[in-house]
Amino acid sequence: MSRATTEPSKEIQKRIRRIRGLPTLPPVVQKISEMVKSEKVSAEKIGKTIGQDYALTAKVLRLVNSAFYGLGGRVSSITNAVVLLGFNVVRGVVLSASVFELMDRGIVGLWEHSLGTAIASGVIARALYVPEPEEVSVAGLLHDIGKVVVPVKMPETYHKIREIIEHTTLSIGEAERQVLAFDHSRIGMWLADEWNFPPNLTEPIVYHHTPALAKEARVQTAIVHLADILIRAKGFGFGGDPWVPEIDQEAWNLLGFSIKELEEIVFRIGEEIFNVDGLDWRDDTPA
Ligand SMILES: [Fe+2]
Ligand SMILES: [Fe+2]
Repeated sequence: MSRATTEPSKEIQKRIRRIRGLPTLPPVVQKISEMVKSEKVSAEKIGKTIGQDYALTAKVLRLVNSAFYGLGGRVSSITNAVVLLGFNVVRGVVLSASVFELMDRGIVGLWEHSLGTAIASGVIARALYVPEPEEVSVAGLLHDIGKVVVPVKMPETYHKIREIIEHTTLSIGEAERQVLAFDHSRIGMWLADEWNFPPNLTEPIVYHHTPALAKEARVQTAIVHLADILIRAKGFGFGGDPWVPEIDQEAWNLLGFSIKELEEIVFRIGEEIFNVDGLDWRDDTPA
């Protein structure tokens, strides 16, 4: 990992640290975040709360029905989704459905990159028989959520990061560290904190570029790390720079795939992406 080569402005650090949630999130997102902290909340109550926001409900249902293998068309209500997928998965989907426009406003193609990583994470998780593969898919969906904050809240700073990416061979993470002294993984950690995510979601967000540092969710983190790289290699969406990073040796060993198995996985990812690729994600909600 490269070190920051310039001393970051203290002011920039302060401004980023003040962002304790994403900008312009609908109030319902905060509400369900509060609700799931309470033990007693029911799937029905969560369903009703999200259901008040029609546009969000439509996006969440569409995402659930197409991004999660085997659920195609079966999930007709948010309550249903909570029962089938659990609170954490639904919270993650609500969060990403709420920011998907912000994602593309900041980095065009980041939404496809995130969706592709979610699908690839699910394929890999199922190949390994990891329990709750949907949770791993959501971790993939959210892994780069930290990339949304800087372009939206600090466009001048993001412009500097873009300049570096365009004129050097640095990755987006390296460019972010050069300008800010930290990268989107750290911002993702603050957001995951804010949302009280469990380690199965937080660690893949924080360590997807450094999977060997994961402690409690090592397999899930290694899966999202590999999924992110495979999606970049496929050229699906845009992760913020044109490079395909190397697969971390430790993560690769942990997953234990043969080259033949990897080929099979890449093939399945291609098939599943083909099935959702036809959807126009920007046109899915009534105005
Ligand atoms: Fe990343
Ligand atoms: Fe990524």
